[in-house]
Amino acid sequence: MKEKTTVITREQLDAQLVFCNEINDYWRARGITPKAYVETYGCQQNESDSEAIRGLLVQSGYTITDSAEGADVVVMNTCAIREHAQQRVFGNLGALTHTKRRHSGQKIFLCGCMAGQEQVVTRIKNSYPHVDGVFSTHHLWQFAEVLRRVLFTGKRTFFTEDEAGSIAEGLPHLRDSKLKAWVSIMYGCNNFCTYCIVPYVRGRERSRQPADILAECKTLIESGVKDITLLGQNVNSYGKDLEQDVDFSDLLAQIAQLPGDFLIRFMTSHPRDASKKLFDTMAAYPKIAKQLHLPFQSGSSRVLKAMNRHYDREAYLEKVRYAKSVMPELVLTSDVIVGFPGETEAEFEETISLIQQVHYDSLFTFIFSPRPGTPAAKMDDPTPKEEKNRRFDKLCAVQNEISVELHNAYIGKTLRCLIDGTDKEHLTARTEGGRLVRLMGDPSLIGSFAKITITGATTWSLTGELTEKD
Ligand code: SAH
Ligand code: SF4
Ligand code: F3S
Repeated sequence: MKEKTTVITREQLDAQLVFCNEINDYWRARGITPKAYVETYGCQQNESDSEAIRGLLVQSGYTITDSAEGADVVVMNTCAIREHAQQRVFGNLGALTHTKRRHSGQKIFLCGCMAGQEQVVTRIKNSYPHVDGVFSTHHLWQFAEVLRRVLFTGKRTFFTEDEAGSIAEGLPHLRDSKLKAWVSIMYGCNNFCTYCIVPYVRGRERSRQPADILAECKTLIESGVKDITLLGQNVNSYGKDLEQDVDFSDLLAQIAQLPGDFLIRFMTSHPRDASKKLFDTMAAYPKIAKQLHLPFQSGSSRVLKAMNRHYDREAYLEKVRYAKSVMPELVLTSDVIVGFPGETEAEFEETISLIQQVHYDSLFTFIFSPRPGTPAAKMDDPTPKEEKNRRFDKLCAVQNEISVELHNAYIGKTLRCLIDGTDKEHLTARTEGGRLVRLMGDPSLIGSFAKITITGATTWSLTGELTEKD
């Protein structure tokens, strides 16, 4: 039986917009244009959520600033993926006691994935009295309600109950870029990889309706957006919870058939569910970028089993072989964890050999970080920290060599890129595969696709010359 996803009703959202209006009136009565600062940690999902938070703040009369100093509202949108990420947030949260002292009316909020952990909420309640409000990702759509309560009553407000998970359509978004946009197609995760905190803090998988996603993409394209990234923790399970028969490949194909000049990409694909149908769909539509982020996590089948990843080394390699066979120009990136509990030297070497075999364009590399409440945090972990650091450094060195080699291979090629901005004296552009290219040129070109001939390469970026405007 397919589950029905809870959708927040229009009435519930309208009630939130009324709260926004009341906050607006509050400031107008005082003749003040209030300022708000939103700091984002973690992944693209959080970036996208921060756009909704900024949208609600603007709706409530705030202007967005780029510093906590002097801001009337500070929102910390946090990440819980590794211990280090959390420590940074606690450090920066502590420092806000000073900005609050200098601006006594400042209201401080914490949200995002850390707010989904009970022990974090307790710590904030007890040890961070300057934090006025906390809301977990399930309650993001109620941010105006939290803000209003804090502002009008002065009471600390916690919206952190663990809900079943819902979908809120039609929240205002203040987007960072006019050219690029994130579009969440689903929320949560059902995979419970043994090391990962995400399913605990973001709840079960739930998919947005295809019609809502298509309508959002269409509006974005009509407003001039050229590059859309579809977001989900595991986009390949899109649609499994919907009543209609639609999977991720179907959704991708429908978006790729919208009129206009744009590219779509997506993240993240779980290798277990990445199908031939997906790769064939990518290959079939020119508007789908030939870029794939396919996290492998470990090259050892034993470790993959302990991680609860549901694929082994061979199955992963077979998928990569197929994807490359139908998309020879594919840009492939991945995530990998070093030092999972019990990983032996030989198993680590299997990770190295997988990297050498696949030749990723780039890798996001992490040292295992035990997350309270996950099964891996309780596993025996005899490998000393120094040894894990050594493995990590080796892995980075191997990958850097591959990245340089692949980057050098771009030299002399002419690629269609989106010119997306400037950095000091250069224009910046992105290849279809997402590589950064720097070039000289007129800023009026920003926002257009162009053919660029690559003339140089470093580990991280390419340089090029404009060959032809599209
Ligand atoms: N949903 C995505 C990943 C989200 S988290 C996927 O399944 O691919 C991004 C990356 O952080 C993961 O791919 C993993 O490599 C890393 N990660 C997650 N939990 C971790 C932990 N406890 N320690 C170290 N790295 C972790
Ligand atoms: Fe975490 Fe695994 Fe879900 Fe990715 S698929 S968010 S790594 S549990
Ligand atoms: Fe971090 Fe939450 Fe993303 S834990 S990586 S912000 S889903």
